[in-house]
Amino acid sequence: MERDTLRIDPDATGIARAAAMLRAGQLVAFPTETVYGLGADACQGEAVAGIYEAKGRPSFNPLIAHVADFTHAEEIGVFNAAARTLAEHFWPGPLTLVVPLRPGTRISALATAGLDSIALRVPSHPVAREILQAAGTPIVAPSANRSGRVSPTEADHVWADLNRRIDAIVEGWSTPVGVESTIVSCLGAEPSLLRPGGVTRAEIENVLGHALADALAETSIDAARPVAPGLLESHYAPRAAVRLNATEIMPGEAALLFGPEPPSGLDAAKAHINLSYRGDLREAAANLFSMLRRLDISGVTRIAVMPIPIEGLGEAIGDRLKRAAAPRPSQRG
Ligand code: TXA
Ligand code: MG
Repeated sequence: MERDTLRIDPDATGIARAAAMLRAGQLVAFPTETVYGLGADACQGEAVAGIYEAKGRPSFNPLIAHVADFTHAEEIGVFNAAARTLAEHFWPGPLTLVVPLRPGTRISALATAGLDSIALRVPSHPVAREILQAAGTPIVAPSANRSGRVSPTEADHVWADLNRRIDAIVEGWSTPVGVESTIVSCLGAEPSLLRPGGVTRAEIENVLGHALADALAETSIDAARPVAPGLLESHYAPRAAVRLNATEIMPGEAALLFGPEPPSGLDAAKAHINLSYRGDLREAAANLFSMLRRLDISGVTRIAVMPIPIEGLGEAIGDRLKRAAAPRPSQRG
């Protein structure tokens, strides 16, 4: 995972180079008007997994997909009237809108953490806009810092945290807003505030003509907030019961495999699928949500998951699987 990290100037040559690297599945940090983002092509699962590896983040959050303009946003998400109004007023700018994911897009399931919704944002920083235009693909980008550190507002902050862990940093001028984007969910009947940020509540309410509902569903574990019970609800949870560290498959179970060695009893499994035959954690992370979903929609009631090493990305995979295996609110009684 160690590699040389290029520092790229934001001139025409540099922008073209950064865009080509992103299209090639590499990790490129770039300035936005809020903070520096660590970008990867949202359609390449292994590139998205690389973000978690580079940040050393021990859990998977749905990420924000950055696009060049509203037209590109509409190719990925479904905008109701309120979402459209907010996009018209605040894009480009520090507002992220959570909308239903348009069926049939090529967005990796890891980018949305398996959800049927997607967070979209059109940044206003000229360097970010040029990179997005040149890349021509949605770019997921959390803040470009190591997990647990503060969000970077200068290229040197990114360098200090992520040198040798990512492929490039695009130099930019400052990030004028300095705090993350405001996140508004447009999934329900009325828009609701998920995370305060660069656009104020008053500005949004002024445009909507009414008060914003409060959802407070910030799911980031580094948000320095106590973990609220409602937090898990925004995560994809399989309907099937999940059993972890299975070395033997029981009759009637579906099996989520890892590595080349089959567990005993696999013949009796209702269905099985391998996260990574070659035992590669990045490939496993990229496949996790889509494979869980595939087993789930096949109608099985129990999914047995083989042991997955807890090193590197295995920690985030294990965290997600533990949540999937935890009793559902409906099962808690
Ligand atoms: O300003 C920003 O938004 C920066 C810059 C780089 O653009 N990015 C950023 O990304 O703050 P990140 O990954 O730190 O925050 C993503 C937030 C998380 O709190 C996540 O829970 C929420 O967006 N989110 C993403 N998709 C969601 C979804 N489908 N439903 C609910 N929340 C979602
Ligand atoms: Mg962050």
